[in-house]
Amino acid sequence: MKDKFVIQGLSGRKTLSGKIKVNGAKNAILKVMASSVLFEDGIEMKNIPDIEDVKRLSELLGKMGVVVSKKNKGIYSIDAKKIKYCELDREISERIRASIVLTGPILSRFGEVSFPVPGGCVIGARPIDFFVEGFEKMGAEMEFKNDRYYIKVKTGKKLKGAEIFFRAPSVTATETFVMAGVLAKGKTVLKNCAIEPEIKNLADFLISCGAKIKGAGTSTIEIIGGGLLKSKGKIYKAMPDRIEAGSFLIMGALCADNLEITDCNPNDIEILIEILKDAGVPLEIGKTSIKIKGNAKLKNKDFKSIGFKTKEFPGFPTDLQAPMVIFLTQATGESLVFETIFEGRLNFVEDINRMGANIILLDPHRALVKGPTSFRGREVESPDLRAGLAFIIAGILAKGESIIDNVYLIDRGYERIEERLQKIGVKIERIS
Ligand code: EPU
Repeated sequence: MKDKFVIQGLSGRKTLSGKIKVNGAKNAILKVMASSVLFEDGIEMKNIPDIEDVKRLSELLGKMGVVVSKKNKGIYSIDAKKIKYCELDREISERIRASIVLTGPILSRFGEVSFPVPGGCVIGARPIDFFVEGFEKMGAEMEFKNDRYYIKVKTGKKLKGAEIFFRAPSVTATETFVMAGVLAKGKTVLKNCAIEPEIKNLADFLISCGAKIKGAGTSTIEIIGGGLLKSKGKIYKAMPDRIEAGSFLIMGALCADNLEITDCNPNDIEILIEILKDAGVPLEIGKTSIKIKGNAKLKNKDFKSIGFKTKEFPGFPTDLQAPMVIFLTQATGESLVFETIFEGRLNFVEDINRMGANIILLDPHRALVKGPTSFRGREVESPDLRAGLAFIIAGILAKGESIIDNVYLIDRGYERIEERLQKIGVKIERIS
């Protein structure tokens, strides 16, 4: 069953107001769920949103014999004591990219793992060469047959520590090898690591449960391998989702008068805050909240256009590129957008142009946005989760009705977004 969102646009009026809370971070939670395989006992997690990717990963773990139980709202317990299989289910793995991080803990615990080519959002080639090469350095061999990778430790059952230099800072590769190192024999040194906050969040939890990890959040990480971890009842609380916070902030800048984004960490989206302030958006930054105050006085066309390029943390996150493009369609002037990470992530601009934008795709990585332009409601289908949020913002800005098809992609990362947006004044309905 494919749900749709129907949005009645505000024709550029800035009437949204109230408070909107930021949920736990999808890209931190999925990795902590995967880390359950490293534990002798179960782990408890809280602040977990009800999103499709968490459900899919729970199913994937379940198929391997891991017991995932959802307790009260937002609280999960995961127990890998009875894990039986080292094979990742094809259908589920082909739906979520995060499935790849399970290979690290499974291989380091059992000495073997098999998995299909991982899927996820269609945003570019998304190779897995760093994973295969890293496992080979740690003493495993790879075979590819029947459309699956089979990775096995050559001698004995244990991966051995190694020095691995990533040719590019990869978030999931860094997380996978941090987890692989936890049960490997000896020292693993990872160089040119990604430094996204979700990586430190995962490492801090593992350290609190006995893992020996140094340097997470910097480009060099050292892990000394040991035995299975013990949580001893420690509860992991998910950090706030910086991409959700950033998307709400862009939406607020364009469509709200007074809006408060709560339960977030402004330090994790400093670059976006600086760019929006520079463009002229009136912001008040608190410790765990951001207010957009009295914004209706300012017309969106008074905002300055600003070029930006996506970069690894603390640079501009690729996951906020699509919503930021919508911002630039409303600001006055020409902006060059350079998507440096994924070559498929500007594909959504074709549909945004159908809604009235004037964006020239110069090549798969670069777009020229000319603003201001006004939007008309249209029927569109999001190519990926983050562009989905951009379509919602465009629909709110537009004149008339917009329909967004296949909202499963949005549900992958945003919990019941329509109910939360209705509370701040967005006219959005889910149609099944
Ligand atoms: N890369 C390789 N070889 C590899 C792995 C990565 O060449 O083996 C390259 C990629 O092609 C890309 C670059 O390295 O050019 C960085 O990609 P990265 O591996 O960091 O991306 P990822 O780990 O697959 C995570 C998030 C993405 C987010 C990116 C960048 C998860 C599950 N996914 O992906 O989130 O866009 O980091 O920050 O953590 C999303 O949430 O919508 C999403 C796509």
